Parts: sequence; structure tokens; C-alpha cells
Amino acid sequence: MHTPAQLSIGELVAFVLMQNKLFDPLNKLADMQTVVSEASASIERIYEVFDTAPSIKNKKKALKPISLNGHIELKNLTFTYHENDDENPAIINNISLQILPKQKVAFVGPSGSGKSTLIHLLTRFYDVNQGQINIDGVNIKDYHLRKLRKRISIVPQEPMLFSSSIYENIAFAKIDATPSEVFMAAKQAYADEFINKLPNGYETTIGEKGCRLSGGQKQRIAIARAFLRNPSILILDEATSSLDNESEFLVQKALNELMKNKTTITIAHRLSTIENSDVIFYFDDGELIEKGSHQELLQQKGYYYNLVNTHKKMNIFNA
Ligand SMILES: Nc1ncnc2c1ncn2[C@@H]1O[C@H](COP(=O)(O)OP(=O)(O)OP(=O)(O)O)[C@@H](O)[C@H]1O
Ligand SMILES: [Mg+2]
Repeated sequence: MHTPAQLSIGELVAFVLMQNKLFDPLNKLADMQTVVSEASASIERIYEVFDTAPSIKNKKKALKPISLNGHIELKNLTFTYHENDDENPAIINNISLQILPKQKVAFVGPSGSGKSTLIHLLTRFYDVNQGQINIDGVNIKDYHLRKLRKRISIVPQEPMLFSSSIYENIAFAKIDATPSEVFMAAKQAYADEFINKLPNGYETTIGEKGCRLSGGQKQRIAIARAFLRNPSILILDEATSSLDNESEFLVQKALNELMKNKTTITIAHRLSTIENSDVIFYFDDGELIEKGSHQELLQQKGYYYNLVNTHKKMNIFNA
């Protein structure tokens, strides 16, 4: 008679265990499939971005300026971020102005009036829709983009720092900078002293995983970068939040040095900065409304006059 196959308890346990060994990798393989299909969708998207031709390009025989005098002319500029969109009025509306070499000027006006947009146009992050920007008498579209941007430095309100050493954070402003140039720039920015007090000096890692810097210290790193680049045109986006007194004093001292011999545009919030400018340009709603020195504009008793009085009353200028 045929006897049914016998399975011992031990064999059964072994079978179940072996079965798991087979199913686990199979499950993992199925999970992998999902990851792979997600990744390939992302890769497609990345390649789409890579394949997008930049709309702002160099001309064939683009000029490569080694230095510039910093004579800036905006001629009848009109600009909107979304072209062919009738619902959005122009952000910059027929603005013409001139900044002479080495002049210190202030851009003033309410939030959204177009101050930052003008800087984006000057540095060619966007091209104007109508009108023209000349630097030293040459349309900026005729300059080699990277060479032009090398001649312009921006010290932003909130400097961006990388999670790497202080040294690298300064040196990145100039690819071929020598150590002595980096140390010199830090000294000129009054940053050398605080850097030397950090645990590893210039090698101290900053950012998320490292040492955190105060607002004034970050600004001095940004100023050191600008010293290292030694641009012809300097753009300062003044911080709205006030720094502690000592930081404020050092930042101001460093900036005064940095501004020497350079055309400087400050997007200014402090009355002290504005008052000391050669020319103040007051913008509202994408238009240039007033221009002149502090005294001239006060005498006009217009927008600027009102702005100064309102802010003095509210005491929000750190004069
Ligand atoms: N990338 C963008 N895309 C679309 N619209 C933008 C963009 N950047 C700014 N705008 C719009 O352009 C207008 C001018 O903005 P801009 O940033 O130039 O003003 P601002 O004078 O610098 O203001 P703030 O003093 O607040 O910095 C605003 O209406 C703003 O919403
Ligand atoms: Mg702005």
C-alpha cells in the first residue's frame, strides 16, 4: 500500500524558514521596482531642465571686460516677469536714470516698487523687454555674461553660507584666490578677529552641521567675499533687521572701505545710509518718482520728504 509522505516537525520548521528566505528578497525586488520607476520619472524631469536652452546667452563676439569704470545708464526700461500676460502690468515702467562712475547712490521706495527687479536686470538675471542698459557706454547684452557678473558684486541682506569651512566660504568668491588673498579679504572685512577666536579658526565648519554665526558675522563674510572679487560695481542690499552695536559698527566700517573707488548702489533702509548718498532714487510702483540729494528731495516736499517724516515719527530708521 502506498504510504503518504512523512514530514517531521523539524523539516516543516525548516521549510517555513526557507520559504521566508525566498519571499523576503522577492518582496524587496517588488519594492525596488517602485523606487526605480520613481527615479526614472525624476531623471526625465532633470534632463528636461538640463535640455532647456538658457534664454540669456553670450553673443558670438561678446566683450570680456577686465575692469569697468562703472558708468551705468538705464534707458527707457520696461519689464515684466511674465511676458504676453495682459493681466500683469509692467513691474518696471519706462525707467531712465544715470549713475556716474564711483558714485554712491541709494534706491529707495516701498516694498514691491521694483528695486530688486532693477538689480536683477542690471546683473542680467533677466533681460529687459524694452529699453536698454549700458555700462561704460556698452549695452550689457554685448558683454560676456560671466565676465560682466565678475565685475559686479552683491552683498545680500541674508548672505548665503555653505556647510563648509570659513576659508572655503570666503574663497569661493574667486576661484584662483591664494590663501594670502583670502586672509587679507577677511582682515579688510573686519572678520579676521572673530574667525581666529573660533575653535578651528579658518578651518571651522559653519552652517547646519557646524558653528553658527551671528547676523553681523555672516555679513562680514559676505563683505570679505566682495573684497576678494574687487568688483567695479558694488550692490548692497541693506539688512532691515538691526545688528548689535558692535557688529553694526564693524559692518559699517568694512562697507565704507569696500565702497571706496567703486560705483555703489545701495537698496537702503537706514536714514544714515540714504542721507550720505550722492543721489537718491525714489521708486514707486515700478516708476522713478523722484531723484536728487537728501537736501534737494527734502526741499521738494514730495514722496521722499513724506517717507523721511513718517519713518522719523515711527522711529524705525536706525539713524
Ligand atoms: N520672480 C518674480 N516673478 C514674478 N513677480 C515677481 C518676481 N520677483 C518680484 N516680483 C514682483 O515684482 C514686483 C517688484 O518686486 P521687487 O522684488 O523688485 O520689489 P522691491 O522694491 O525690491 O521690494 P522689497 O523692498 O520688498 O524688497 C512685486 O510686485 C513682486 O511681487
Ligand atoms: Mg527687494
